[in-house]
Amino acid sequence: MIYLDNAATSFPKPVGVYSEVLKCMENYAANPGRGSYDMVIEASSKIMDTRQELSELFNIPNLLNIVFTCNATESLNIGIKGILKPGDHVISTVIEHNSVLRPLNYLSKKGITFTLLGVDEKGYLNINNLKKKIRKKTKAIIINHTSNVLGTVQDIRSIGQIAKESGIIFMVDASQSAGVIPIDVVLDNIDLLAFPGHKGLYGPQGTGGLYIKEGVNLDSFIQGGTGSDSLSMKQPDFLPDKFESGTLNTPGIAGLYEGLRFIKKIGIENIRKHEIMLVECLIKELKKLSYIKIYGGTEYENRGAVVSLNIDNVDASEVGDFLNKKGISVRTGFHCASLIHNIIGTSQRGTVRISPGYFNCLDDIEKLIKALIDIHEKRPFL
Ligand code: ALA
Repeated sequence: MIYLDNAATSFPKPVGVYSEVLKCMENYAANPGRGSYDMVIEASSKIMDTRQELSELFNIPNLLNIVFTCNATESLNIGIKGILKPGDHVISTVIEHNSVLRPLNYLSKKGITFTLLGVDEKGYLNINNLKKKIRKKTKAIIINHTSNVLGTVQDIRSIGQIAKESGIIFMVDASQSAGVIPIDVVLDNIDLLAFPGHKGLYGPQGTGGLYIKEGVNLDSFIQGGTGSDSLSMKQPDFLPDKFESGTLNTPGIAGLYEGLRFIKKIGIENIRKHEIMLVECLIKELKKLSYIKIYGGTEYENRGAVVSLNIDNVDASEVGDFLNKKGISVRTGFHCASLIHNIIGTSQRGTVRISPGYFNCLDDIEKLIKALIDIHEKRPFL
């Protein structure tokens, strides 16, 4: 099987991830922070070690400012609903995932207003336009670092600078970039960083996190047992406990730890180089096929490893089915991004999305290209 759907979740994972999840389940999957026996201590220190690895990866000054969640969607919801109050205005973009657009739509019924910046056909927002949209009531700017539809990488450092100068909270959705493109929360002036654990960080599904900068005050999202302040009915207001109610996914986080160690061992720049090499080959080959339309930019350097396309006169879902029969896994449709399809003209048909990862090789890309040619040639007989 050739797996080319790493934008949805990475597969396979580094071998150490599987073995650590199992080791945790078999040996130390006690409830971290609840009790003081050996298994609890081991579980708690694995959680802390994982925070440490994350803090090094993103240059987070205090590892206690990292909150574990189930996925980036949960992180985005905690951040967005935690900072915005009736009367606030927020700026985001039309290239966001529904995990941003739907919370904003929900909050708009509760007195929060939002401006969605347009993007060009390659998916880039215009920074001067962003500046013009800032109002007195603008509380936050929320930006998708790398598009899950087009692979566009936004200039978060410049946007972070604008947010800082304007005293606005800067939230970044790093769903497609965490673990692949360097992120430095200090240099990028990021106040809230939402990231999945199961994509570029190679953890199991059910892992994710949110970095909350010191001094950024969010309302708690859910309340309950944190293993701390147990005699109080009030939710603790210190991090990470304020946002970590209920038992953590210790086996998942143990696997995430190994994913992070793998990134450190290989080097984020080498992971990126490999993915860019695959995307370069993919785009070069696709460009030779006149019946294939590539959406977004066709440059391969400043982009994530995501390429969306369609074959003339063939439904995206038909392409996906055909590829599946050939043992090639890709995602087709709208990719949970409701607005960008209006810009790239795919609101009716969606796209076929190819997202290679570190464990793919050039041979996988060549086989995909052959299969796409096959679809075109066989089309009338499919
Ligand atoms: N957001 C993920 C994707 O783009 C699930 O497929």
